[in-house]
Amino acid sequence: MGVKQSTVPFAGTNEQYEKLLKVIAEHKDDKGALMPIMQEAQEIYGYLPIEVQSIISNELDIPLEKIYGIATFYSQFSLSPKGKYVISICMGTACYVKGAGDIYNKFKELLNISDGECTPDGKFSFDSCRCIGACGLAPVITINDDVYGKITVDDVEGILAKYE
Ligand code: FES
Repeated sequence: MGVKQSTVPFAGTNEQYEKLLKVIAEHKDDKGALMPIMQEAQEIYGYLPIEVQSIISNELDIPLEKIYGIATFYSQFSLSPKGKYVISICMGTACYVKGAGDIYNKFKELLNISDGECTPDGKFSFDSCRCIGACGLAPVITINDDVYGKITVDDVEGILAKYE
């Protein structure tokens, strides 16, 4: 099975593990228990790494493949934690026609992660997003609460450097 490991090493605590076991015990005998357990697991850990999916798989005796399939299918589940700095690249039409795709690729290349992933040091995660309503500034990206408009591929390195 081609399971994707998070780029960030798993660091779940005992307390989180105990909480998860409790949630599983509470729902175990319910019909359709899997989705609510996965949702609560994501709340406990902040995301749903493969290690947590394995715990759920063992406890419920449901194949990991099935849980992984659900986790990757529904966008409400995140297999990777968010970074300290969350970069969002607008891929709405106005931004896209002004080169958002190239900017996206530049971030990807410099950070060496894919869409939705986080750098191994936990510093940056990035994602594409829909129009954020600032089309006059296209192409636009945001990093946490900072907004950068009319940026070019050549600006990307300098923007990242501000957060280093
Ligand atoms: S399309 Fe990017 S802000 Fe509207």
